Amino acid sequence: MKVVLKALGELLDNSVLEAAAGPAGPGEVLVAIEAATINPVDSMLASGNYGYQVQVPFDLGTEGIGWVTQVGEAVDPALHGRRVLILPNYEQGTWADQVVVKAANVVPIPDGGDPLQLAMVGTNPLTAHLALTKFVDLKPGDWIGQNLGNSAVGQYVTALAKHAGLKILSVVRRPEAAEGLESDVVLVDGDDLSGRIRSALGTDRFELVLDGAGDSTVGALAQWAAFGGTVVSYSSVTGLAPAVGLGDHIYQQLQLRGLWIPNWLEQAPRSEIEETYGELAQLTVDGVLRARVAATYPVAEFAKAVQHSRQPDRSGKVLLRP
Ligand SMILES: NC(=O)c1ccc[n+]([C@@H]2O[C@H](COP(=O)([O-])OP(=O)(O)OC[C@H]3O[C@@H](n4cnc5c(N)ncnc54)[C@H](OP(=O)(O)O)[C@@H]3O)[C@@H](O)[C@H]2O)c1
Repeated sequence: MKVVLKALGELLDNSVLEAAAGPAGPGEVLVAIEAATINPVDSMLASGNYGYQVQVPFDLGTEGIGWVTQVGEAVDPALHGRRVLILPNYEQGTWADQVVVKAANVVPIPDGGDPLQLAMVGTNPLTAHLALTKFVDLKPGDWIGQNLGNSAVGQYVTALAKHAGLKILSVVRRPEAAEGLESDVVLVDGDDLSGRIRSALGTDRFELVLDGAGDSTVGALAQWAAFGGTVVSYSSVTGLAPAVGLGDHIYQQLQLRGLWIPNWLEQAPRSEIEETYGELAQLTVDGVLRARVAATYPVAEFAKAVQHSRQPDRSGKVLLRP
């Protein structure tokens, strides 16, 4: 069984269940899916309003993990029986009980560890890792500022930052979202956010600001960036361009950079991709990286799962399990 998008538009109106594909052809592997995440990108891809244009019919589900149950011709037989992460490059759908994947699109991961946590490694931990390592040469003690502090990306940023000895200030948009977050400072958006950020930092400044919202919170954070500091935008949940003050941009010479993981997946050497996912998977097995899980649903109930994933007060990620 797999979930297939038949036409661009609202995912829930245009998706159906079909029989899963198989067997593995030359250069391919068959993967028995263990768990697959529902991410905001799945609905964005379905809408047709995203940086990657899907062709319908399109197998839905951008990330997940599973076990290789069959290898096709010209594939390393050692992959048979391995637990693998499926690269979130939109070339296959993980909302399925099994999927045929190009062998180049899987990366072996440890056999042990919570399948739900490992199923979330493909996208958000990678985003957090790239945001923290590809733009600024950060040193222990440096400050990072971010909005979307309670999002999965935000929680992984916090975990990786703490692991590297960095200090992190996170902004969230509602008080309940602040509960349990492990950032050094958590502020709820609202009156005088900029003044509260300044009080928390004292004379320190952010070396890096991460923006997933595009709203005024990024402007408030950017005001307290170091001269020549960097603002990295990885999403805009408001649909707005990052609202960085013109004076901060020009007089403080802030650098505005963008991050989109499909670019890295396309451009990074295979060895770096395997090494990076290997490290992120191990940090997940070790419990350093964790995201909250709100619920799991069987693949046949994908519509309920998608609806749940869209509830604004949900407490974590929603995943599908076969
Ligand atoms: N550039 C890349 O390669 C890349 C990679 C991964 C993810 N992303 C993007 O990063 C974003 C976060 O992904 P995720 O999986 O971490 O999301 P998530 O766990 O589902 O969290 C969504 C976050 O967005 C906040 N939010 C939603 N609508 C908002 C609005 N109108 N104004 C302010 N905040 C709002 C939510 O706040 P509440 O909890 O208060 O609702 C929550 O903090 C998504 O847009 C995703 O597409 C980009």
